[in-house]
Amino acid sequence: MDRITIFDTTLRDGEQSPGCSMTAPEKLRLAHELAELGVDVLEAGFAASSQEDAESILTIAREVKGPRITALARSTRGDIERAAASLEPASKARIHVFIATSDIHLARKLNITREQCLEQAAEAVQIARGYADDVEFSAEDAMRSDLDFLTEVVRVAVAAGAKTINIPDTVGYALPHEIEHTFRTLATRVPGLSQCVLSAHCHDDLGLAVANSLAAVEAGARQVECTINGIGERAGNASLEEIVMALQVRRESLGYQTGIHTERIYRTSRLLSYLTGIEPQPNKAIVGRNAFAHEAGIHQHGVINDRRTYEIMTPEMVGAPGTELVLGKHSGRHGLEQRYEALGYTLTPEQLKRVTSDFKALADRKKTVLDEDLLSILHHGVMEDVTELYHLEALDVHCGGDVSDATVEITAAGKRLRGSAKGDGPIAAAFAAVETVLDYRIVLERFTIRAATPGQDAVGEVAIEARIDGHTFTGRGAHTDVVRASAEALLHAVNKAAAARSLEESHLAATSDSWGV
Ligand code: KIV
Ligand code: ZN
Repeated sequence: MDRITIFDTTLRDGEQSPGCSMTAPEKLRLAHELAELGVDVLEAGFAASSQEDAESILTIAREVKGPRITALARSTRGDIERAAASLEPASKARIHVFIATSDIHLARKLNITREQCLEQAAEAVQIARGYADDVEFSAEDAMRSDLDFLTEVVRVAVAAGAKTINIPDTVGYALPHEIEHTFRTLATRVPGLSQCVLSAHCHDDLGLAVANSLAAVEAGARQVECTINGIGERAGNASLEEIVMALQVRRESLGYQTGIHTERIYRTSRLLSYLTGIEPQPNKAIVGRNAFAHEAGIHQHGVINDRRTYEIMTPEMVGAPGTELVLGKHSGRHGLEQRYEALGYTLTPEQLKRVTSDFKALADRKKTVLDEDLLSILHHGVMEDVTELYHLEALDVHCGGDVSDATVEITAAGKRLRGSAKGDGPIAAAFAAVETVLDYRIVLERFTIRAATPGQDAVGEVAIEARIDGHTFTGRGAHTDVVRASAEALLHAVNKAAAARSLEESHLAATSDSWGV
């Protein structure tokens, strides 16, 4: 059975989309998770886009083992050199070069002729081959390009030594039968292509990204480029979990396999949502909250008799947790450890100690603790990776009238800071009170709140995005009291800003030292 290479671009094309930006430690954490998920190729970023991105690729290349690590580069020597430098520590590396090939992009964006495009494509692949054996070439906006010209571009890229040829539907415009036609035509017209891997990269502007990726596979593609939860520019990229599960559930009819450990799909999706604060829509296939819920009585009846009446795959296949009561106030550490094991997390003794104490605190406030609560505890506490310079000790809010009053007590490096403020509602008052004690200019840009579980006593998960010191940071908090969760989310973002500030200061000190100042 042929194997389809899964090329994950969550950290590049996905992270490029509004609201999905992640810090370098967050990207590293997701990269480790993607490696455990079993992706074959991991696109870690676009080195020339910023120094931060280049450093993040470098760290991923150094630390993440398993997948081939790749970085994107425009077809210029400078970009390719930066990609190569950031991939240097990877044991398996790929340089991914691209140039647009549609007439509209050539004329209105690059301002070059078709001949110049051909020359630049060939030269870029040659330069990249000087740094890596494994070079991928992408013809941006391929699906709106003239097929005869696209054929020429592919021909020169193959002749210059590209090992993978990627045909993106950059603006999500193509229909499945057009994708099939393009892929088959290229395969027959460019004989050298049989020595390369043909790849699909589809965007979802018409909701066809997954269907188009599968059409490409049927027409000879052996690599698909996709993202977790389908995040990406505009309407997003083809969703990894949908492609993988379609190939798995319909294996008999399609006849392909992947190396993805499908039982880790749900946890990878949750981690991404947690890191970005962006939730998939509830009815999103595979990972949406309702993907395995049966509401109608007739459906429930059928499922109780035999799950196969309305389920084409089980939640277990993708590692989605059940929502049955799992643990209560009197459950011990061992029970907790076993439940985390069942959810796919092996905790160190230190982590287990911390989750046990968070769990006890939660079980005191909430009668029933569900799997989703356990995941919330894990992500918001034990797995949090920012140094907590500012810690919320206490929060007191009075609300219900025209204005709300809040008082906060925050500890910072052993000092206790206290501040009060009024606001239009309890959350606004709590935020204003936090701001009175901190020396940061904070502009809130996004605020979302979700209940981790059903019921009135649910844990509220808050995700924010804020401009602090001129940079954007995300922050997260979780608590049964949503005002407290909101204040925690704000402090989480501020703690990241504090870490960035001290990094900048030590960088400045090191540079002035080296100048002998
Ligand atoms: O959508 C696209 O064309 C891309 C390429 C740069 C691969 O993301
Ligand atoms: Zn793309």
